[in-house]
Amino acid sequence: MSISFKTAQPIGIFDSGIGGLTVARAITKLLPNEQILYFGDTAHMPYGEKSAEAIKHYSVKIAEFLKLKNCKMIVIACNTASAAGFKAVVKATGMKDLVVNVIDPAVDYVVKNHYRQRIGIIGTKRTISSNVYAKRITALDPIANVVQLATPLLAPMIEEGFYNNKISQTIINSYLSKSKLNKIDALILGCTHYPLIKNEIKKFYGKNVAVIDSSEIVAKAVKEVLLKHQLLNTNKHGKFGFGKKGQQFFVSDYTQSFEESSKIFFDEKVKLKQFNIWEE
Ligand code: DGL
Repeated sequence: MSISFKTAQPIGIFDSGIGGLTVARAITKLLPNEQILYFGDTAHMPYGEKSAEAIKHYSVKIAEFLKLKNCKMIVIACNTASAAGFKAVVKATGMKDLVVNVIDPAVDYVVKNHYRQRIGIIGTKRTISSNVYAKRITALDPIANVVQLATPLLAPMIEEGFYNNKISQTIINSYLSKSKLNKIDALILGCTHYPLIKNEIKKFYGKNVAVIDSSEIVAKAVKEVLLKHQLLNTNKHGKFGFGKKGQQFFVSDYTQSFEESSKIFFDEKVKLKQFNIWEE
C-alpha cells in the first residue's frame, strides 16, 4: 500500500502546557489516522501573564520548530498565543492557510448557535485584555452582548493538577459568581486548559448556561482545512516514524504534572521529550 509522504506528515500542535492536550485529544479522536507532534512550552507557562511581544516571540519559535519537523499544518492550541501570535506565526512560517487558531472556530460556532445572545468569555489576562473574542463576535453579530472576565488562577491551578476537588470548585465558583457574568446564555471556555474543569463549571450553572468547550469545534476545523488542502491522512496504516500511536510530545522544561496529566488524555502517561528550543 503506498503512503503519501505529505498526508502522513504530522499535525503540529502547541500550547504553554497541558491545556492544548484537550485539543490534541479531540483531533486524534476525530482523525485517528493522523500523527501529532505536540509542544508544551512549560518553561514559559503561564502565557497569560506575559506581554503580547513575548508570546509572539515564543509562538514563532515553536512554530518554526514544528515546521522544521515537517508538520503539514500547525494548530495554535492556546487562546493566549492565538490572540497574540497568530499573525506572526502565519508570517514567519509562510504556512498561510495551514495555521489554525482556537479562537475563530469558537467564534463561528457561537455566532451560529447563540446569535444575539449574552455571551460570557473567561480566559487568561492576556486573552481577555486583547478583546479578541468580543471584537470578532460583534463583527459578525453586532447585537450580541459579550461580557468577559479574566480568570488568571485557573490555568496554573489546572497545570498543577488541581481540578475536580474542593479547592478548584471553590475558586471556580468565586470567579463565576462575579456580577459581570450575570445572566449569560452561553460561556466560552477561552483557554484550552478549561475543558479539564468543564464539569465543575457545569455544576455551577446547572442547565441554565451552555458551556462551550472549543476542543471538538477546533478538531472539526482542522479536518476541514486538511480536506480542503488534500492533506487528510485516509490511510490507517499511514503512520510512520512516530511510534505505534503516531504521537510525539515535547516540552521546553520537564514537569511531572505534565506527565501525570497526560494520562487523562491518552489513557497512559505519554513519553515526554525535553527540548529546550530557547537555547538553540
Ligand atoms: N492554555 C492557554 C490558553 O488557552 C494558556 C494558559 C497560560 O499559559 O496562561 O490561553
